[in-house]
Amino acid sequence: MPIKTKIIVTGGLGFIGSHTAVELYFKGFEVIIVDDLSNSSIDVLKGLKNITKSNLIFEKIDLKNKKSVKELFEKHVDIKGIIHFAASKAVGESVQDPLKYYENNLISLINILQEVEKLKNSISFIFSSSCTVYGEANNLPITEKETIKKAESPYGNTKQIGEEIIEDFSNSSDSFKAISLRYFNPIGAHSSNEIGELPIGKPQNLVPFITQTAVGKYKELIVFGDNYPTSDGTCIRDYIHVVDLAKAHIKSLNRLLDNKNSSNYDVFNIGTGKGSSVLEVIKSFEKVSNQKLNYKIGSRRKGDIIEAYANTKKANSILNWEAKLSLDQAVNSAWKWQQKIQ
Ligand code: WQD
Repeated sequence: MPIKTKIIVTGGLGFIGSHTAVELYFKGFEVIIVDDLSNSSIDVLKGLKNITKSNLIFEKIDLKNKKSVKELFEKHVDIKGIIHFAASKAVGESVQDPLKYYENNLISLINILQEVEKLKNSISFIFSSSCTVYGEANNLPITEKETIKKAESPYGNTKQIGEEIIEDFSNSSDSFKAISLRYFNPIGAHSSNEIGELPIGKPQNLVPFITQTAVGKYKELIVFGDNYPTSDGTCIRDYIHVVDLAKAHIKSLNRLLDNKNSSNYDVFNIGTGKGSSVLEVIKSFEKVSNQKLNYKIGSRRKGDIIEAYANTKKANSILNWEAKLSLDQAVNSAWKWQQKIQ
C-alpha cells in the first residue's frame, strides 16, 4: 500500500475547505482537517464522512495559539502540503472590528509558517486569497498583472498582506513553495448535497440570501442598487461553482508537489471568466427553481465595486484547469442544498 501524501487543510470544515477536502480525499491524499469551529459546524465532518465513507482526521485547533500550532506540526511532521483557508472573511465585519481580522488572519498564518520553517521536508503551500485584492480593477477581465490597489477593507488588506508574507517567506527558503489563488465569487454545493454553504447568522452574500429568501427565512431580497453603469444597472461578479474552485486547489498543489513550478511563488485568478449581474443571478434562480423570487431594488451597499470578472488564461494554461460548471448548475446546487438544510 503506497504511503499517502499527507496534507493539512486549515479551515477544512468551512465552505471551500470542505469541498477541497473531498477532492483531496478522492485524489488519494491523506487529509488532516484543522478548524477552530469559530465560523463552521462540526456537522460538516458528518457530511464529509457520508461522501468519503471514511473518518477524516479532524484537529480542533485555534491557529492564533502558538503552542497549539507547534503541537499540531509536531504531531504531523510528515506533512508534504498545506492548503490554508482558515480566516475571517466578512468584509463588513472587518471594517467594524479590524483587529479581529489582523489577529485572526495574519497571526495564524505567521504561526503556521514559523512551524513550517522547523520542518525538514519541503512544503507545498496553497493560500486562499481573493479577487478583493484588486478592488475596482482598471481593466476587465482581470488578469494577475492587474494593479493591486489600496485595500478597501481590513479583510481585503489581510489577503494582500498574507500574499506578501507568503511570497517573502517562499523567496527566503528553498524548501517552501507557494501558490496564492485569488477566488472570485464561490457559490453552490457538492453534488451529493451532503456539504454546501452554511452562512452563520444573516448571510452577507447574494446566493445564500437568495436561497434563504426562497425558503421563507427572509421576506424579500434587497438588490443593492440598479443604477450602476452596467447592462441592467446591477453589479457584475464572476460566480464560480465551489467544486470547480476546489479542483483548482488540487491542480495547484500537484504542480508544486511535482516540482513543475517555475518559481517558488505564483498567483492565479480562479473564476469562470464570465460576469453575471445580480438580476441575471436572480433570473437563473427563478429558472432552476421554477419559482418567482421576492425581491425589490434598494439603495447601493457601501464598498461594492461595480464589476469584477476573471481573465482565467493563466490558470487555464499553466494549471491546466478551467471552470466547467455553469451559473445555472451552481445556483441549482445551492438551491438543492438550501432545501435540504432549510
Ligand atoms: C455580490 C453582489 C452585492 C447581497 C464577496 C465576498 C468577499 C470576497 C468577494 C472572498 C454585489 C449584491 C448581495 C444582497 C445584493 N470573497 N447583493 N443583495 O460583494 O462580491 O464579495 O466576494 O474573499 O469576501 O463578500 O459578494 O455575494 O456579497 O455580493 O444585491 O442581499 O450581490 O451588492 O453586487 P461580493 P456578495
